[in-house]
Formats: sequence, C-alpha cells, structure tokens
Amino acid sequence: KPIVLSGCQPSGQLTIGNYMGALKQWVAMQDDHDCLYMLVDLHAITVRQEPAALNSACLDGLALYLACGINPQKSTLFIQSQVPEHAQLAWVLNCYAQMGELNRMTQFKDKSARNVNNINVGLYSYPVLQAADILLYQANQVPVGEDQKQHLELTRDIATRMNNLYGEIFTLPEPFIPEFGARVMSLQEPEKKMSKSDSNPNNFVGLLEDPKKLAKKIKRAVTDSDEQARIYFDVKEKPGVSNLLSLLSCATGQSISDLVPQYEDKMYGHLKGDVAEAVVSLLTPIQQRYHEIRNDRAYLDEVMQQGAQKASARATTTLEKVYKALGFISVT
Ligand code: TYM
Repeated sequence: KPIVLSGCQPSGQLTIGNYMGALKQWVAMQDDHDCLYMLVDLHAITVRQEPAALNSACLDGLALYLACGINPQKSTLFIQSQVPEHAQLAWVLNCYAQMGELNRMTQFKDKSARNVNNINVGLYSYPVLQAADILLYQANQVPVGEDQKQHLELTRDIATRMNNLYGEIFTLPEPFIPEFGARVMSLQEPEKKMSKSDSNPNNFVGLLEDPKKLAKKIKRAVTDSDEQARIYFDVKEKPGVSNLLSLLSCATGQSISDLVPQYEDKMYGHLKGDVAEAVVSLLTPIQQRYHEIRNDRAYLDEVMQQGAQKASARATTTLEKVYKALGFISVT
C-alpha cells in the first residue's frame, strides 16, 4: 500500500477549509493506503502559544480527527512532539536546506510580515521540520491544500539532494491536492484564503461552530456584483460564487458540472441557502461525535500512546539509516 502522511496544526478551530483541503481526503484514503496522520504541535510553537491552551488544543484536535472519521485501527494517529525522531531528523535536514531556499517560502514571508515581533528561527525553518515529518516515514503521498505545494517541493529538493550525496535514503513524496476544495476562500473576501487565524470571524466557518451561527455566516457570504446575477463557476470573474459552488460540491459529493445547471434560473440566495444546509448536515454528526470523544480522556490517551509507539517504531528505521549514511557512530 502507498504510504500517506499529513498533519494539521493543533486547534479546535479547524475550518471547513482544513476539512475540504485535507481531512476529507485523509479519511477517504484510509482503506487503500498506509496512513499516518498527526497534530503538529512542534510547528505550532513557531508562534507564541499559551501552554494550557496548546495542551487542550492538541486534545481538541485529536478528538476532531477522530470525529471526522480517522480510524486509529486503520491509520496511525499521533502527536508530533510525542515522536522525538521528528525533531532529530529536522536538525539533520536543517544542515542540508539552504537559506536561499527558505527565503523564497511564501508562507514564511506572509507569517513574518504579520508577526514582526517574533520572527524566530523556528518559523524560518518550519518547512524543514515539515520535510522531516514526511521523509521519516518514506511517504509516497501527502494530502494537503494548495498552500502547501511549495513546502512539498522543498521537501523533494532536500530529499533529492541527500539521495544524491548518500544513496537512496529517502522516498520522494508527491503532493495529493484535490481538484475542488484545495483552496477554500474567505466568505467575506473571496480573493483570499479562508484561515482560522483571520481577525474577522465572518470570514471562516469553524468545524465546531454552532450550526445556526455558521449557516448565518454562509448566508451572508459575499457574492459577486456583476450585472446579471448568474450562477456559474469561474474563479477569476466570480470568486464568491465559485467558492460557494466548490463548498457545495465538496459537502454533497455532486460535481460542479452537475450542480451549475441546477442553478440556471435561481438567485444567489438559493445557492447560499443550499450551501448552508449542506454544510450544517455535514458538520452536525461530526460535532456530536466530537463532544462524546473529547470527554473521554482515557480513550484519547490510549489513542495517543498507541499512535506514538507505532509512529516511533517506523521513524527510527529511517533515522538510523540517515545517521549511518552521515557517518554517526551507532551505540549498538
Ligand atoms: P495547517 O494547520 O495550516 O493546515 C492544515 C491543512 O489544511 C489545509 N488548508 C486548506 N485547504 C483548503 N482551503 C483552505 N482555506 C485551507 N487552509 C488550510 C492546508 O493546506 C493543510 O493541508 N504545514 C502544514 C502542517 C504540516 C504538514 C506536515 C502537512 C506539518 N507537517 C507534513 C503535511 C505533511 C499546515 O499548513 O497545516
């Protein structure tokens, strides 16, 4: 089975964007792939976190993965900091990543522009830790949203560089980016990406938001003001409407080309009402499961512990291979 690895930063406030771009694919891949899914708490500390909040965000995130349908019997589900090999390989890869390469990372540029008071070295080398996450498990496919494409290219470049120096130590991973939903846009400003850290909460839909509130947000989404209020898919000309059509397609499983004719003589309000309804029926059962699981700390502990053990056993194999290739002396 092909090996799949992916992760999200820990937050109970994952958005419908995280779901469509990543989690939905993760769930679908579980049956015919060998999947590893994690919460990347080491990545999370590249911005300042309140310790108690980070602690519960990891539990929230884990419960949310489970509620969305990640099955720990099928997939390896773990918390990044509980598998020390991630930090160990990241150090090595730091020595094979070039400043010039990291300077080009658009996510670093965006994040450092937004947070000028804490442009730390970890934020800079964030994509190198991500490369370590992926290469440790020799992953073939990495299901992510479109914004992660550049990090995947860097991962391949670092892996290729090390393979050229030391022989085939790493598998080259491919990004797996869905056709629709890979870039869910902000509801009020559909030219920019939906993000959980947006200062305007009307721009995003959180997976755990109250259904009435989230339906209201969707119904207030910005649509496009051209002369004829027609409903069709065109990301450039109709960013707001296209975003709603993508959401509807992802939430219902109907293709865009099946959906568009159904709205031929309908108004924007119809479309928004249908999107709101589809998203609410997608999220309601997830939210119910979430609350049950989140309250079962013993179960969460068991999942974390087993996940960390399984992941670490696999990660060690790659780390040993790398250490040996570099010339480090093994203790055994
Ligand atoms: P994070 O937490 O920022 O995002 C998690 C996943 O959600 C996707 N995503 C979106 N997809 C569609 N529309 C959106 N508006 C949207 N916003 C976010 C992201 O593309 C991502 O797939 N760096 C990663 C975390 C990570 C990782 C890894 C991923 C660390 N190590 C190894 C894969 C493999 C990130 O951005 O997380």
